[in-house]
Amino acid sequence: MHFSALFIYTVFTVSTACAFVIQENYDFQVELGDGKLSALQLANKYGYRTELFEIETNDGYILELHRITGSGSTMYDKSLPPVLLMHGLLASSADWLMIGPGNALAYELSDMGYDVWLGNARGNRYSRRHKYLSTNEVEFWEFSWHEIGIIDLPAIIDHILEATRKHKLHYIGHSQGTTAFFVMGSLLPDYNEKILLMQALTPVAYMEHMSSPLLKKFVKHLGTIATIIELFGLGEFKPVPNILIDLASWICPGSKPNNLCVNALFLLTGSNPEQIDPLMIPILLGHIPAGSSTKQILHFGQEVLSGRFCQFDYGTRRNLIIYGQEKPPDYNLTNIVAPIILHYGRNDHLAHVENVERLARQLPNLMESHLIDMPLFNHMDFLIAKDAKKLLYTQIVDNIEQFNRYNWVRWIKPMR
Ligand SMILES: *[C@@H]1O[C@H](CO)[C@@H](O)[C@H](O)[C@H]1NC(C)=O
Repeated sequence: MHFSALFIYTVFTVSTACAFVIQENYDFQVELGDGKLSALQLANKYGYRTELFEIETNDGYILELHRITGSGSTMYDKSLPPVLLMHGLLASSADWLMIGPGNALAYELSDMGYDVWLGNARGNRYSRRHKYLSTNEVEFWEFSWHEIGIIDLPAIIDHILEATRKHKLHYIGHSQGTTAFFVMGSLLPDYNEKILLMQALTPVAYMEHMSSPLLKKFVKHLGTIATIIELFGLGEFKPVPNILIDLASWICPGSKPNNLCVNALFLLTGSNPEQIDPLMIPILLGHIPAGSSTKQILHFGQEVLSGRFCQFDYGTRRNLIIYGQEKPPDYNLTNIVAPIILHYGRNDHLAHVENVERLARQLPNLMESHLIDMPLFNHMDFLIAKDAKKLLYTQIVDNIEQFNRYNWVRWIKPMR
């Protein structure tokens, strides 16, 4: 078996076996079974009203777009701008719901009266249909976050603005949800006009300082496109063989909260044991990995190696044909004129502080750079930390409120 099987999906899938951690004091209002529900079932379970839309992109993908319209008898406030939340790599709309009512960002926004929309990128569990292609065909998986940025996001944004008859919306992205936004903002500058404020949670554009030991090992082997295709093909990014899942229940007994699987997850995303509620591990692993193409992952790997934020590298010969130049073109960050706030963590293995700060220096309309006030805050903490609400969500919601109230008055001057 190739080393690839030991790559990140091992971490995730192996960890599914860590499923039964019993705990007396819950930090979150969640239940073990939450990992088995779909995003919409989850929201409904906790009393939120939802809507489901299916959007067809101009290249034939059918994306599920989820909406939370309020809870109980309260409806969202039509005078407020809609808010779009976009998930990260191998993730889905459920990201924004996992830690339950009273904590999760989507519920917080809904409780404040916002019309909350949750996107799903092509290839994730809610967006696996296509007008002509099936997921068994390699062509279905011929995309990276480049296509998510230039096709899916515009389709989602246009749908929301049309449905709500608004001109602009608030955008919040996690990880790849920020990468795709930067792609859109640089290649389709008109879309910047449709964004009131973009808030980036663990912003990913430059990646050369990526410090996950596991991923570093992987990236070292990325060498040539030939190796890549030999190892993976360019289809769906496949979870590990079942045998490893069986092994996992033996390696990672659920009775031990500090088992190997939990540590493997930390190895990947950064470790912050104080902030993790053991009950969240099985719930998290019920929703992640939610599916992606191999090409998405390779594209990130290329960024680590090249230190550039640029389009997919097909190798010199194919680059010449596709781009008319030997190297893939950079995404021009100067074009991203939407107002942006970056939220980042000191212990984020995937969005390293130095890389976020490099990005920050190049964004023309950066409003604020918010380094989370906790030394060990990591990549997943943005979604599942016990104190995510206190350290982050309160501020995100406050930024939105301030922005709506004063719009350009308070924000008249970008940071530079
Ligand atoms: C990037 O975009 C800016 C603004 O549109 C433009 O002035 C600049 O020449 C572009 N840079 C490159 C390298 O294309």
